[in-house]
Amino acid sequence: SIRKVFVGGNHKCNGSVTATSSRARLLAEAAPDLPSSDDVDIVIAPPAPYILTTKAVLDEHGSSAAVALQDVAIAREGGAHTGTVAADMAADLGAAWVIVGHSERRHVYGESDAHTRAKIAAVLDADLGLIYCVGETLEQREGGDAFGPVAAQMAALFDNPALATKPELWANIVVAYEPVWAIGTGKVASPEQAQEIHTQLRAAVAAATSPDIAAAVRIIYGGSVKLANCAELIAMPDIDGFLIGGASLKPEFVDIIKTAA
Ligand code: G3H
Repeated sequence: SIRKVFVGGNHKCNGSVTATSSRARLLAEAAPDLPSSDDVDIVIAPPAPYILTTKAVLDEHGSSAAVALQDVAIAREGGAHTGTVAADMAADLGAAWVIVGHSERRHVYGESDAHTRAKIAAVLDADLGLIYCVGETLEQREGGDAFGPVAAQMAALFDNPALATKPELWANIVVAYEPVWAIGTGKVASPEQAQEIHTQLRAAVAAATSPDIAAAVRIIYGGSVKLANCAELIAMPDIDGFLIGGASLKPEFVDIIKTAA
């Protein structure tokens, strides 16, 4: 990739204080074997209750890896939002990034487009990095239009009023293409399938913003990424990194970072 590689590990709802701490320690201790932070952004997203511990372990070991929240409240500030975490709290906990629009939020928890939009606004307003997930279902792909639903999800980003007036905020955004049929299924998209959508995504960003922003934005792939398939994916010109679920829970995560960057 001509852009700085971005590798995110989304732990989803897995872990414990002990397991999360040892994963963070393993990552931090691998630093001498990993590419420098000039060449790769490494981000891990433990469940929200473990953000503070994860951050503390990484900091204690001098790791440059950053921490992400997996989802966020629809408002930037805390208040009457039972059961969620505000963007300001994520920042207070030391998280640098927030994942928004993950397929499990959209499809398992039935998150509406309006909620996704409000979350994007909250994250950008809090000056946090945004990992924005998009992706089509198998039914949509088999219906012959894989990019249509992805484009519709991208509209939530393009319509954001803050981004329209402050295009420099695009520097805080990573787009994650995660075909729903590839998530947790072991059925990875082929490098060509992923590259095709990534190209369309970059063209959509160019059309909505500017060629410079489109050339700079990282578009990462997620969906059954593992050590065995990451090299051929990262070889594609528009794949700038990964969002990794299952394999981010294993020591393999470190080897994927080495291969990707
Ligand atoms: O956020 C990560 C994706 O949902 C991918 O998960 O690597 O387990 O397929 P997976």
